[in-house]
Amino acid sequence: MNLQLPYCFCFFLLLQLPFSTNGKAYKNVSLGTSLTAASGDLPWTSPSGEFAFGFQQVSDAGYLLAIWFNKIPERTIVWSANRNKLAPRGSTVQLTADGLLVLNDQSGRRIWTKPELGGSGATYGAMLDTGNFVLAGQAGATLWQSFDEPTDTLLPTQNLNSGAQLIAPYLEKNYSDGRFKLILQGDGNLVMYTTAYPLTNSNVSNVAYWATGSSKGSGYQVIFNQSGYMYLVASNGTILNQVFSNSVSLQDLYLRATIDYDGVFRQYVYPKSVSSGKNWVMNWTTSPNFVPPNICLAITNGIVSGACGFNSYCKDCDHPSQEIDRFEIRDMLNTDFPSNDYEFFGSVDEDWCRRSCLSDCYCDVAIFKDGRCFKKRGPLLHGVTDPNIGDKALMKVRKGNRTEELAQKKSAKKSDRSALIISGSVLLGSSIFLIVLSLLGIYVFFTRWNRQKQKMIPQHHAMRDMNLQNFTYNELETATGGFDEELGRGSFGPVYKGVLGDEDKQMIAVKKHHVLDFAQEGLRLVLSFFFVLLHVHE
Ligand SMILES: *[C@@H]1O[C@H](CO)[C@@H](O)[C@H](O)[C@H]1NC(C)=O
Ligand SMILES: *[C@@H]1O[C@H](CO)[C@@H](O)[C@H](O)[C@H]1NC(C)=O
Ligand SMILES: *[C@@H]1O[C@H](CO)[C@@H](O)[C@H](O)[C@H]1NC(C)=O
Ligand SMILES: *[C@@H]1O[C@H](CO)[C@@H](O)[C@H](O)[C@H]1NC(C)=O
Ligand SMILES: *[C@@H]1O[C@H](CO)[C@@H](O)[C@H](O)[C@H]1NC(C)=O
Ligand SMILES: *[C@@H]1O[C@H](CO)[C@@H](O)[C@H](O)[C@H]1NC(C)=O
Ligand SMILES: *[C@@H]1O[C@H](CO)[C@@H](O)[C@H](O)[C@H]1NC(C)=O
Repeated sequence: MNLQLPYCFCFFLLLQLPFSTNGKAYKNVSLGTSLTAASGDLPWTSPSGEFAFGFQQVSDAGYLLAIWFNKIPERTIVWSANRNKLAPRGSTVQLTADGLLVLNDQSGRRIWTKPELGGSGATYGAMLDTGNFVLAGQAGATLWQSFDEPTDTLLPTQNLNSGAQLIAPYLEKNYSDGRFKLILQGDGNLVMYTTAYPLTNSNVSNVAYWATGSSKGSGYQVIFNQSGYMYLVASNGTILNQVFSNSVSLQDLYLRATIDYDGVFRQYVYPKSVSSGKNWVMNWTTSPNFVPPNICLAITNGIVSGACGFNSYCKDCDHPSQEIDRFEIRDMLNTDFPSNDYEFFGSVDEDWCRRSCLSDCYCDVAIFKDGRCFKKRGPLLHGVTDPNIGDKALMKVRKGNRTEELAQKKSAKKSDRSALIISGSVLLGSSIFLIVLSLLGIYVFFTRWNRQKQKMIPQHHAMRDMNLQNFTYNELETATGGFDEELGRGSFGPVYKGVLGDEDKQMIAVKKHHVLDFAQEGLRLVLSFFFVLLHVHE
């Protein structure tokens, strides 16, 4: 008990810290209150402290006015006001005296405001424990709530009303509108579409890749209840379609449903505390609830970029700036390639079309005519140039002079070849040198060996006459009695005892060599030289 006291005390202190420095936490956001990005202001938190409303830095220069899970290290964002126009350092959000929630940049320019101008103002704002930020009007009626304008995430108790949509972020850490959306259409159908990125609000060239298929006019609302179930209901409350049908315990887990940048709508859970789950990873993990079951099979047709942006291998496409530097657009009037479209944009200008193709690593040519931009990829088919064609082809070509490049390559090849010749000759020369050296070595070896032989055998004559004397094989055979008595073995063969047949009866030793031995020894030598040679070449 005693041991636990200091721990509890510290924990208590930590919990109290935000509230001791900001007395307004746990209370309504009253008129005139403001927060400034990068100023150290504490966010407006919900009573439980699980959610917070304020600024989150998402890039070097930019802040999101956002709502996030505030008790986990990841500070996961569930909603934001300005995902397509980041707020610079020094921007402020204020609940003004006349009841407007206003986001201004550091110079006072308006980025975002709620409720819409013209309506009556709020009397207070509040960050609720559900993750909903509300602006309340007279008598506590809700004037505006973040739950009505979701970005990419739904939280339990947050429902999707007719006409509302979730738009996936562009990338995992880039929150601007991306390539996919989930919308409860006015006709009652819940549908997932690709967007005509980056014109995400355009309704042209979208392809549906998942839908509940509710009969017209029946779907009224998507409900995300506190057991983690999500379903589409009719206006009379009848469940028409189960979107997610696995239960999740909200006592132990944080829960969210997010349409990810890859176009999959997934449920994620995060344990509320270490003790709450024995086997839980302290991180967001996907629950078995997600649609479509296989995104790669869901998007297989249409003039759109499949699930991973046309090709899951091409990572470069996430960094268009690298491409822009390497290519330029050259105009070709009255030219068209009628096939190969993979993307189409309406109501755009030529410059937009030009930049769009340049920054897209799949685009080989864009055809522009009357505000319409068709992006095409190679191999380009059915190309035609004719004065009757009003289209302008914007050809993407690699920067630099190809003729010059080729010439440079050619000369580089030439110098490569001469380098090869030089190194070849050096190698050949050194090989010949080494062979000659080895032959010389063999010659020296044999000469020395011969000299030693001469020294050994005719010792008696040398001492007597100071002269070399030759013996025939027969003489030596006679002297040793037919190589009868072996004295021992030398390096090249046996040594025999003998007596010279002259007047001194001089005792001699005769060493007998076999011709094969010489040959073998010579070969060994030459081989070892080549072995050395091989090592030199390696
Ligand atoms: C917020 O303000 C409203 C209106 O003044 C009041 O009814 C409500 O109790 C307040 N809520 C909190 C948590 O202070
Ligand atoms: C997110 O991606 C868009 C589109 O490429 C780009 O314009 C924007 O600058 C990116 N935002 C951040 C924070 O990197
Ligand atoms: C697309 O949106 C425009 C303007 O909002 C509208 O006039 C047009 O009918 C829409 N087209 C489709 C196919 O929904
Ligand atoms: C509820 O509405 C649906 C679709 O409009 C309909 O099929 C069903 O019969 C209705 N149920 C009741 C009890 O009215
Ligand atoms: C959520 O919906 C499911 C399926 O309709 C239902 O079984 C469950 O009781 C609901 N939970 C709550 C808290 O309403
Ligand atoms: C949680 O998961 C994300 C994405 O997989 C990873 O980047 C991050 O490091 C993880 N955090 C922890 C605390 O494990
Ligand atoms: C490319 O370089 C070559 C040789 O320097 C020159 O003759 C040719 O005109 C250049 N072409 C272009 C398009 O600049």
